[in-house]
Amino acid sequence: MDSAWRLWSERNRFGLYKHNGPTLPRYMNAVVYNIHGEADVLEDCRMETPVITRPKKILIRTEHASINPADIKLRYGIMANFNRTIFPQIPGQDLSGVVVDSSSEKFKPGDRVMGCNLNGGAAAEYAIFREEHLARVPDQMSSAEAACLPTVGLTAYQTLVEYGKIDKTKRVLVLGGAGGVGSYTVQYCKKVLNAEVHATCSTYNKDFVLGLGASQVYDHSDPNYHEKIFDSYDLIIDTAGKDGTYKKLLKTLVKKNGSFVKVGIHKELYSTYDALMDIVTSLYHSTVSTVLLKPKYKWFVLSLDDPRQLEIVAHQHLKHKLSTYISRYYPLNATNLQLAHKIIELGHTRGKLLMQVQPLLSEKESYLTNTFLKLNQNK
Ligand SMILES: NC(=O)c1ccc[n+]([C@@H]2O[C@H](COP(=O)([O-])OP(=O)(O)OC[C@H]3O[C@@H](n4cnc5c(N)ncnc54)[C@H](OP(=O)(O)O)[C@@H]3O)[C@@H](O)[C@H]2O)c1
Repeated sequence: MDSAWRLWSERNRFGLYKHNGPTLPRYMNAVVYNIHGEADVLEDCRMETPVITRPKKILIRTEHASINPADIKLRYGIMANFNRTIFPQIPGQDLSGVVVDSSSEKFKPGDRVMGCNLNGGAAAEYAIFREEHLARVPDQMSSAEAACLPTVGLTAYQTLVEYGKIDKTKRVLVLGGAGGVGSYTVQYCKKVLNAEVHATCSTYNKDFVLGLGASQVYDHSDPNYHEKIFDSYDLIIDTAGKDGTYKKLLKTLVKKNGSFVKVGIHKELYSTYDALMDIVTSLYHSTVSTVLLKPKYKWFVLSLDDPRQLEIVAHQHLKHKLSTYISRYYPLNATNLQLAHKIIELGHTRGKLLMQVQPLLSEKESYLTNTFLKLNQNK
């Protein structure tokens, strides 16, 4: 522990990295887990503030972190066979904050950043991210809003723009239009790309999803809802990942040259065996069946290596006045994070769940965040 602290101080003494930010505390608060399991493995922890030891790394003073279902899958250890977990593990892939130290030429102390890191780290007062996982937060965007954007914004962009080549002549169906990814995808499709968008959701979320820009909403609590759909689609994006449904929809609702993109994996598929079977089935559909038959099927995997995409999303977000509905806003601690994970696991989140990690430093930042929360928070 001491050696890491000495390393940090010596780096500053010998000027290896320019550090113009505030003096950092030696210890920070974080939420961690030391074993995989249910939400109650999450615990509060005081640990050493991390230090940069490699090039192209950025140390961020975390202001906000938003929660994603991927955080929960990683906590359960779903990906542990592919991606080794190092304990204590700090969860949280999406954050916003201010750079306090950097070994990258791209970012300097004081820059406002947002980003997504599949290895986690957001549920801590300080986090180290690689430069390619960070984008600048536009001046007019609050830190709260920025923390909600990375995963859902990139998913919407990559499925609709990069893969689906969606424009105003196309029609899209979003399965699960009320969740984090779904609510953003519906808006991006309608307000940025001017395409016609339909969605599925529960009865409770119908008005919410219509308000986001969907012109048709189907209630998925009716098991035969797909029989009531008479349109066909250039792209179906499945954020719900319920096994079985896609086979019917793929055959009947996707246009000949259209595509079906599976984004979500449902909780029932969380065991390693089921997840592997899901991957095998999906690979079959995305290769063999795509070659032999149309439409195409794709198992979507978020790509994080192009921060320009996140900057494009942030720019479009402001230009087209997209919104991010916050269903819960908590200060970060283990109890609140456990609760947030449990809510996401229930599978019916509306919009995003957000944590405040550290107080905001500037008056402008507080004003932007308060205004954003007043307009978008669950009342
Ligand atoms: N592959 C990737 O790279 C990638 C990237 C991003 C996200 N994801 C995955 O995509 C999934 C969705 O993420 P998210 O952040 O949007 O999750 P979320 O915020 O928890 O939303 C889940 C949504 O699913 C809806 N839903 C539940 N049962 C449904 C059903 N039978 N049919 C249609 N919708 C249903 C719920 O809406 P109602 O309450 O209206 O039912 C809820 O709003 C997660 O599995 C996540 O891990 C994958």
